[in-house]
Amino acid sequence: MQELIRVAVDGPSGAGKSTIAKLVAKELGLDYIDTGAMYRACGYKMLQEGIEASSSDALKEMLGHTDIDFSGGSIFLDGVNVDGKIRTPEVTMMASACSALPEVRAKLVELQREIGSRKSVIMDGRDIGTNVLTDAEFKFFLTASAEERAKRRYGEMKEKGMDVTYEDVLSDINKRDYDDSHRKIDPLKKADDAEEVDTTFMSIEQVRDHLLDRIRSSAL
Ligand code: DC
Repeated sequence: MQELIRVAVDGPSGAGKSTIAKLVAKELGLDYIDTGAMYRACGYKMLQEGIEASSSDALKEMLGHTDIDFSGGSIFLDGVNVDGKIRTPEVTMMASACSALPEVRAKLVELQREIGSRKSVIMDGRDIGTNVLTDAEFKFFLTASAEERAKRRYGEMKEKGMDVTYEDVLSDINKRDYDDSHRKIDPLKKADDAEEVDTTFMSIEQVRDHLLDRIRSSAL
């Protein structure tokens, strides 16, 4: 059997992790695993079932009968494709709240490790290199200035016709950076053995090619 290749891509919101990870996955034939989408699916189910982040018992009960998986690039919650449901501002807030809960992290990290043990993957998130796949063959930590990340996010939202201001987007990015890097369990942090790639002045193609060069030159 061919050896598994695991690539971990971590970094703050809006650093371009998912765009880059998808491109690298396509180029190298790896499965792309969006772990943020898993926290979002969990947050979506909590909203659907009216479960609050503070109700530990109800949450544990819910997690006991929750199945989250990827197939053909889509995320399935209890067998139903929820790609179109998990990017709303409401779900974003709940995903952030539930990602700080030990019960949720224990369940999702176990699932992520199980996925990473049976196929070659590129997995993006906040704690992949530091916690989920500590022995990944490749680890990258993508960053960009908060202003540049807000500019990119603002552009995408405007393109979708959303009514937002640059200042609001920047303040949201700053808040999420703070929350992600200050939470008690598995905070956003560069793994000691991860390569930091500052994408502030790089195009998407440049970042993609940089990762591909690194991986190809030492593994494939
Ligand atoms: O990357 P995203 O915005 O889709 O992530 C949704 C939320 O999940 C975000 O608040 C950060 C959190 N998250 C996490 O805590 N750990 C991960 N491995 C991935 C995402």
